[in-house]
Amino acid sequence: MEKEDLNMKEEDKEAVASNVDIILKDIESLSSIDSKIASQLRAAGYTTIESIAVSPPREIMEKTKLGFNDILEIQEEARRLFQTDFKTALEYYEMRKALRKCTTGCNSLDKILGGGIETQAVTELIGEYGTGKTQICLTLSVTAQLPVEKGGLEGNVAFIDTEGTFMPERIYQIAPAKDMDPQTAANNILVARAYNSTHQCILIDGLFKLVPENNIKLVIVDSMISHFRGEYFGRENLADRQQKLNQYLHKLIRLAEAYNIAVVITNQVQANPSGNFYGDPNRPAGGNVMAHACTHRIMLRRGSKGTRVATVIDSPSLPEEKARFKITEKGVEDAAE
Ligand code: GTP
Ligand code: MG
Repeated sequence: MEKEDLNMKEEDKEAVASNVDIILKDIESLSSIDSKIASQLRAAGYTTIESIAVSPPREIMEKTKLGFNDILEIQEEARRLFQTDFKTALEYYEMRKALRKCTTGCNSLDKILGGGIETQAVTELIGEYGTGKTQICLTLSVTAQLPVEKGGLEGNVAFIDTEGTFMPERIYQIAPAKDMDPQTAANNILVARAYNSTHQCILIDGLFKLVPENNIKLVIVDSMISHFRGEYFGRENLADRQQKLNQYLHKLIRLAEAYNIAVVITNQVQANPSGNFYGDPNRPAGGNVMAHACTHRIMLRRGSKGTRVATVIDSPSLPEEKARFKITEKGVEDAAE
């Protein structure tokens, strides 16, 4: 049995590697485009077959000025190459077998997450200010680099910081607590500060190239929603905001699946006029779009004696459980019950 498990692991690695090969293929390998169209696409930010396959045709049309029917034809080929259509159940099963979990460095949190933050999924951390969203992200930026036997993903990290709260000093504190050289750990985290929602979207588009080229295994967007909430103000802009948010959440899902990586995003809360939401007077921002796109949702709140409490909410595979944790110099850690 053990031997078989080991074999499976090797196979998984190969499956992922071959998937990445396809992604890395230059867009000029598509027979439906010539070098002129390829450079138009590239100039508009579509640098991989994957990005062409998953982007809405209207968006490509607006950015490249190519004809709609030409785009549909190019996308059809890109999808065939990338197999974004039907998969057999066997293929789907093989893909699920390659799924990995990344430790948070906190046993109680790992337990309610079913072992840690999952690859091929988007995990959403929701909570009021100061509940530990960023601190969990910073801790994960270190633990994701750990070897698989220590609960890591053996990869690098891309961190999109929308609020200017990424503190490199924290990496230098957390890494030694995980037996890692702080300078190496800090060197393996690529941080980008997103100044507005458009910039945030450009950075997310860029991940389709950045992730495979830099062995990135964890992508963090902290926070996914703040620029959207700040810029699309009022009822009349709500539909546009939700559409854009939905589009980019789906890109993150595709990214997580295509490269077998973990994606973690943070979300704020807003007052809930219709009563309690899992014992909380607040509910997650971003409405149904956010609720449907995120695979696992973790609600964070303040607990007694400076602790924090995390609750898994509407997950397809995890029971609704609570975990208590504390924020310390070493990142997030278990707190006594
Ligand atoms: P917003 O981004 O404002 O919505 O909040 P957040 O949920 O991201 O909060 P964050 O993760 O930044 O948590 C902030 C809390 O972590 C504060 O209560 C800090 O006191 C605590 N904290 C941050 N760094 C340290 C540290 O080095 N040691 C300890 N003990 N606590 C820390
Ligand atoms: Mg924060």
